[in-house]
Amino acid sequence: ELLSQCSQPNSPPGKSNTKKRVAIGLLIFLLVLAIILIVIAWHIPEWTNALQTASNSTETAITPTTTPTSTNTKKTTTSGATSCPLKLPCDTGWKLNGTKCYHFSTTKSSWNQSRDECKEKRGYLVKIDSREEQRFLFYEVRELMNKRDDSEDKFWIGLTDAKKEGEWIWIDDTPLNQSLSFWFKGDKVEPDNWTDNDTKPEGEDCVRMGEMGTDFVEKCWFDKHCKAEQRFICEKEANKSPDCQNK
Ligand SMILES: *[C@@H]1O[C@H](CO)[C@@H](O)[C@H](O)[C@H]1NC(C)=O
Ligand SMILES: *[C@@H]1O[C@H](CO)[C@@H](O)[C@H](O)[C@H]1NC(C)=O
Ligand SMILES: *[C@@H]1O[C@H](CO)[C@@H](O)[C@H](O)[C@H]1NC(C)=O
Ligand SMILES: *[C@@H]1O[C@H](CO)[C@@H](O)[C@H](O)[C@H]1NC(C)=O
Ligand SMILES: *[C@@H]1O[C@H](CO)[C@@H](O)[C@H](O)[C@H]1NC(C)=O
Ligand SMILES: *[C@@H]1O[C@H](CO)[C@@H](O)[C@H](O)[C@H]1NC(C)=O
Repeated sequence: ELLSQCSQPNSPPGKSNTKKRVAIGLLIFLLVLAIILIVIAWHIPEWTNALQTASNSTETAITPTTTPTSTNTKKTTTSGATSCPLKLPCDTGWKLNGTKCYHFSTTKSSWNQSRDECKEKRGYLVKIDSREEQRFLFYEVRELMNKRDDSEDKFWIGLTDAKKEGEWIWIDDTPLNQSLSFWFKGDKVEPDNWTDNDTKPEGEDCVRMGEMGTDFVEKCWFDKHCKAEQRFICEKEANKSPDCQNK
């Protein structure tokens, strides 16, 4: 009696020992249950997503009006449930018209710097090659200018005669087509190469566009000295939507 008590000095009575075991068992059970529930909850969005895309693979070719977030796009591609990943025609911050995407900068910089910034965004300073494109840009720019209520808040386009005076060429080295030029004509006629011997002796070799509060859709280009800081328009090809029919 004494010996057994000495060998197990802290051993509790048998009854409470089983109670303890049951309690520990229950705890482990609850823990496992919780883990299972967490794992299930974690995967529900993926499963529903996979189900949706599987049930309707044509729906993954999105229209520009529905704009799912880029995280949405990632989920479906990483889940591997679809062979036809979502791809929006334009990245965030770019606007679609026709087959091109356009970015209207919120910051201002010189013509050269604007050209470089567009390049960094894997685009180029906009080149206008149709009346429709000119029309689209005119209305976009007018709205942006209205918001700031600043008639000088015009936008650089990818046109310059800096290389050879009087010879207007686009950013891709193609010459300006005179029947697709949209110079301002009003109280003055552009390009006027306005020169100030003190502040801008080099004349005006770069082109900006925009007219606030008018309908001069086809009369809103102005030459301007290239070091002036302006907002600018970048352009790039729209992403082609993947051909999901073939799968
Ligand atoms: C699949 O898409 C078509 C057209 O986009 C729609 O009419 C149809 O109801 C969709 N089917 C399912 C199962 O969602
Ligand atoms: C481009 O924009 C213009 C002006 O907003 C609009 O009339 C035209 O329908 C657009 N074109 C396309 C192909 O979206
Ligand atoms: C603009 O860049 C061109 C070529 O990259 C260069 O020749 C020209 O000097 C630059 N102009 C200004 C005003 O920095
Ligand atoms: C210039 O633009 C007009 C009108 O769009 C077009 O008919 C003509 O072919 C163009 N000329 C050149 C050389 O691209
Ligand atoms: C600017 O300078 C040029 C030559 O240096 C001169 O012919 C012209 O008259 C000057 N213009 C003004 C407005 O001072
Ligand atoms: C524009 O002005 C500059 C500076 O006065 C001059 O060098 C250039 O020849 C002018 N360009 C045209 C087309 O008149």
